[in-house]
Amino acid sequence: MKWMKVSSYEEMSKVACSIFVKQLQYKPNSVLGFATGGSPVGFYKEMVKSYQEGEISLDQVRSFNLDEYIGIPFNSPASYYSYMVENLFRHVNIPKESYHLPDGNAIDLKEECLRYDKSIEEAGGIDIQLLGIGVNGHIAFNEPGTSFESLTNIVNLTESTRIENARYFESLEDVPTQAITMGIQSIMNAKEIVLIAFGDKKVNSIKQLRGGKITEDFPASQLLKHPNLTVIYGSEG
Ligand code: F6R
Repeated sequence: MKWMKVSSYEEMSKVACSIFVKQLQYKPNSVLGFATGGSPVGFYKEMVKSYQEGEISLDQVRSFNLDEYIGIPFNSPASYYSYMVENLFRHVNIPKESYHLPDGNAIDLKEECLRYDKSIEEAGGIDIQLLGIGVNGHIAFNEPGTSFESLTNIVNLTESTRIENARYFESLEDVPTQAITMGIQSIMNAKEIVLIAFGDKKVNSIKQLRGGKITEDFPASQLLKHPNLTVIYGSEG
């Protein structure tokens, strides 16, 4: 386990990107695990820069995102699919058939969850997974109380998560009530995990993680059992 303290959001983004760049230089056909939200925006900017400067190519990469809302069109500006296209995919040379997000509009959502874990497995498993962390310790959409053994599944979003994510929608009513998320075990199956967290809002969750107590009440704590975890964190204060 590696703890890397940084002094700015920009530094966090650069350090995280450099880990992915190294991975891609070592294994150009890596399977990458991506996250959405505010934390990785700078990371994706750095990845695009590395691609434009010829440091990396994503033509052989396959990627899997952590989660997607249920019931909003995949091309809605608030979908995680659109977020990924806007922040990364449309700027780099990853083929369309190589990136994957859970399909929140699948007719059989339970079947979609099984299919998603299976397709990760068939790709050879995730080589390196990027993660953010919620103020309550959630990872992906796995809220406190989620079983550490969970695989990709359908979750009801908590009111606090819906309020937090309302910034991406016109109003709180528009925020979906459910999502498909990779489970904690699906995340733990990644060969390497990089967790990024910056800002005063994240100080307490990082403190709790560093505290070392592993409990389902704080989903991210299970990551402490991962053999190859890097936490890149910091705050203004
Ligand atoms: C994103 C995700 C979430 C976020 C977390 C932190 O795909 O699954 O768990 O990583 O909510 O969000 P930000 O980075 O917006 O603070």
